[in-house]
Amino acid sequence: MTILVAGGAGYIGSHICKALKGSGFTPVVLDNMSQGHPWAVKWGPFVQCAVQDTQKVQAAIAEYKPIAAIHLASSINARESIVNLFSYYNNNVANSLKFFEVLCQMGVNHLVFSSSAAVYGHPEMLPLKESHPKRPLHPYGKSKLMVEEILQDLYLARGMISASLRYFNAAGADPEGEIGEAHNPETHLIPLAIAAATGKGAPLRLNGDNFPTPDGTAIRDYIHVSDLADAHVKALQKILQEGKNLTLNLGTGKGYSVRQILVAVKDVVGREVPVLLGARAPEDPTALVADPSRAKAALAWKPALSSIETIIESAYRWNMNLSADFGKFGQKNRNSAGNFMR
Ligand SMILES: NC(=O)c1ccc[n+]([C@@H]2O[C@H](COP(=O)([O-])OP(=O)(O)OC[C@H]3O[C@@H](n4cnc5c(N)ncnc54)[C@H](O)[C@@H]3O)[C@@H](O)[C@H]2O)c1
Repeated sequence: MTILVAGGAGYIGSHICKALKGSGFTPVVLDNMSQGHPWAVKWGPFVQCAVQDTQKVQAAIAEYKPIAAIHLASSINARESIVNLFSYYNNNVANSLKFFEVLCQMGVNHLVFSSSAAVYGHPEMLPLKESHPKRPLHPYGKSKLMVEEILQDLYLARGMISASLRYFNAAGADPEGEIGEAHNPETHLIPLAIAAATGKGAPLRLNGDNFPTPDGTAIRDYIHVSDLADAHVKALQKILQEGKNLTLNLGTGKGYSVRQILVAVKDVVGREVPVLLGARAPEDPTALVADPSRAKAALAWKPALSSIETIIESAYRWNMNLSADFGKFGQKNRNSAGNFMR
């Protein structure tokens, strides 16, 4: 019942490891620590290695004999991917391919893949169904779609069974406060807004207030990271039991504008979020909201923690604990704004 979790020392991966352990699996984290955190690996063995390091991955599989893998290891910043396209296609596509080749050679035939709502591009209609046309707007989104397509080919050629899970905006932190979000640099709205409101970070840069939405700001679908983790365990169990590929949206079906999030952060933190107005980026869709009905039906899954209040409260508690635990994680791991550094 061992599962290889590539990228398991990161934000979403660590929550998945906790959920796996709670469901009777043993997660083996495989992470190169380019963005991962040692404190986030708590629920099973850890192998520090890159997914493209063929020999180390082979050795880890030989040692731990996983029955399946979850592949979260990738570079994650859409905007950065436009400039750094070589590094994004290399890490997200070429390195994934090397990883899959070893999985196939070593007989690991079941895989859950972290895909993204970024595969859709500008929506033609909302909410987004899985069948919506896929026209990603940047190398990051394209890389996710390429890997989905490679996985379809691998099913035909090698019988590898996979679940491609298209996450909308992952947010929040473990309800028990053991782990949470600590990207470096942080680019996600909720942690940035909390840092701005508490004075631990810079004022929030609002990327455009001229979107065609009621308040002019972009609308996104926020899903609690523990609900995402729960869906991974269920998707894994389903592909192991039924042997069929899955492609599923993981979102709530409800969208919030940036300004609505800032009001919700103010309600939780008790302080306004200071804002600086920035420009809208052409690769930012006006609204991305999931139709999660396929995932709900296929997995008998329902987001339980994804009210916007619960998401922000858990993120805020995590943020406060990190401040209290400054010494525990080490002053050297923080910059002057209180954010984590590698
Ligand atoms: N955070 C979101 O809202 C969101 C939304 C859609 C999709 N995703 C996808 O979910 C996955 C996890 O995202 P996250 O927010 O937890 O990011 P994260 O950066 O916290 O986690 C990714 C982990 O992968 C590791 N990694 C990267 N390249 C690697 C390599 N070549 N070999 C081994 N390890 C490597 C990093 O060290 C890091 O620990 C990513 O694939 C991301 O594209 C995230």
